[in-house]
Parts: sequence; structure tokens; C-alpha cells
Amino acid sequence: MALKIIVTGAAGFIGSHTTDHLLAAGHAVWGVDNFRTGFRSNLATAKDYRNFLLIEADAADAHSFVQIVAAIKPDVIIHLAALVSVPESIADPALNERLNVHATRVVVEAARHSGVRRVVFASSAAVYGHAAPCPIAEDAPKQPLSPYGQAKLASEKLLIEGGAAHGFVARCQRYFNVYGPRQYPGSPYSGVISIFNDHAGRGVCPTIFGDGQQTRDFISVHDVARANVIAATRPGLACGVVNICTGQPVTLNALWSLIARGHLLDLHPQYGPRRAGDILHSFGCPAAASAEMGFYARISLAEGLSQYVAATRP
Ligand code: UD1
Repeated sequence: MALKIIVTGAAGFIGSHTTDHLLAAGHAVWGVDNFRTGFRSNLATAKDYRNFLLIEADAADAHSFVQIVAAIKPDVIIHLAALVSVPESIADPALNERLNVHATRVVVEAARHSGVRRVVFASSAAVYGHAAPCPIAEDAPKQPLSPYGQAKLASEKLLIEGGAAHGFVARCQRYFNVYGPRQYPGSPYSGVISIFNDHAGRGVCPTIFGDGQQTRDFISVHDVARANVIAATRPGLACGVVNICTGQPVTLNALWSLIARGHLLDLHPQYGPRRAGDILHSFGCPAAASAEMGFYARISLAEGLSQYVAATRP
């Protein structure tokens, strides 16, 4: 059944892919974005759909967002708008609080006011911090290391409690390391895959921080978008918090080898000091998402990288 869905942060990296997947599945999408970090060009595919409407607005502005939701009366809100940079959350904790916690309060209020049935939320593996043993399960200890991670945890609580109080289903999705087209490589704090791919495209060797034996759980943005569609549309889901991950640890050394091969390069990386606060191993347990939502990542890193390299080749 086609649903009416609001996507906040629709012009962002994950938001625009989620929007594309929802539209392809026949749903009606209202994309809300304030273009602080999103790009209109990310919505090039979406804008050709008749059942897509872009609304330039700030999800953290209670007055306008509650009115927008009341006018649309969506079945579902997928709340992806956020301050996405961990360093920025440290540099500007007040902005982090407004965009990553206050905005969630506004979403809860808007959902309550308009009788929204389901809210899907972009949480993060950042909620776990250093404390969690790998593979990380959802009930692992949570010691977020940044205001960003703390805000994601606080938002989960607001949504789960808000859902219980006001009768909507809250689905919190803890994304691990997401990669794919439309991820901006321009800052030293961008995702490592976008940085490595950008370097490889220019034939420049990247710097691996540490010995390259640290591991991450890299998941394609197409799998993440599909997980969002399932969380938003699968009938009968109850409230829940799940990891969105592959469960496959990959070392940084192996990652660079795959990217270099994709660019037909035989280029060795240089090694620099370990980044302060870097987690050594981070990979998730995907069992809960599989059991609750029937979701498992389908795109292997090799396949996802080869699509990504092809999509971003100049
Ligand atoms: C990621 C998230 C972060 C979240 C954390 C929670 C991204 C961009 N960041 O951080 O929001 O808090 O998971 O688990 O997804 N590296 C290099 N060279 C580079 C850049 C990075 O060697 O030029 C290394 C880093 O030191 C790190 C690994 O690559 O070991 C991954 O780094 P990054 O992509 O920034 O993500 P996380 O630190 O895992």
C-alpha cells in the first residue's frame, strides 16, 4: 500500500537515497530540508516524480514543522535531519543540542499532534563508544564519546518514550559506517571511504591513521536506504532499536587495497599517527534487524565499492 511519508534531511546523503528508494516503491514523499548541509543536486532523481514535494524548512523550528506535519498528515516520518559531524558537535554543543535533540522533540510533538503512526530515526553506532565488545549487540554498554553520540542516545529515548505515550511506533536505526555516492569527501572528518576514493581518483596516496589493522563495519547507503524503507513501511513492526550493519569487520588496509584495485592503481598508503579517540574495532551484530524487520545487508563491500568508484569516476 502506498503511504504518505515525510523525510527530514531529504537532501542529505542518506536522506536523498532513502527518498529515491521510497519513490521507486510507489510511496508519496514530502522531503523537508533546510539545506544547511544538504544539496539540491542530491534530489535530481526525486524531483522528476509527481509524488515528491520538496519543502525548504527546519525540522528544529517547532512552529513551522508542527504546521507542516499537520497539513500533510503523513502515515510516517523518517527523521534523518541532523548535525552529522562529530567534530562539529564538540566545537558547537549548543547547535548539536538544537539539531540533534531539540529537533527530535519537535518531531515527537508533531507526530503526537497529527496522529502519525510511525517514526523512523537515524541513530548511530556512536551511541556505543569504546565500551562495547564486538560484534556489538544493541544491549551492549553505551558510553558515547561525543556530544553527537550522546544526542543520538537521548533522541532514541525521546522517541521510544514518546511513542509509548502517544501511540506511534518508534524505530531507531543505529547505522554503522555508511558509504556511497553523494557522501561529501571534502573534510578531514568525512567518511574514510569517500576520502580514500577521492585520493585514488586523483592518484594521490592516502594516509592511514595507525597501522591500518583497525576494523570497521562498512555498509552501503543503498542497503541503509532499504533498511529505512522497511522500517517505515513493513506492516506490524513494534517499537525497536536495531543495528544497521553488515556484521563483517574490514581492516583499513584491506579497504585501501579494494579501492586502489577499483581505480587500477598500485599505490601504497602512507601511515600516520593513530587518530585521538579512534575506536580500534567496531562492527555490529545484525541479528536483531534480521529477526525484527527481515533486513540484512545485501551489498558486499567489493560490489558496493565497485559501484561507488564507477559512480564517482570523473
Ligand atoms: C564513524 C562515524 C562517526 C561515529 C562513529 C561511531 C563517519 C564519517 N563517522 O566514525 O559519526 O561517531 O563511526 O562508531 O561515518 N581514517 C584513516 N584515514 C583517513 C580518514 C580516516 O585512516 O583519512 C581511519 C580512521 O582513523 C578510522 C577509520 O578510518 O580508524 C574510519 O574513520 P571514519 O570514516 O572517520 O569513521 P569512524 O571514526 O569509524
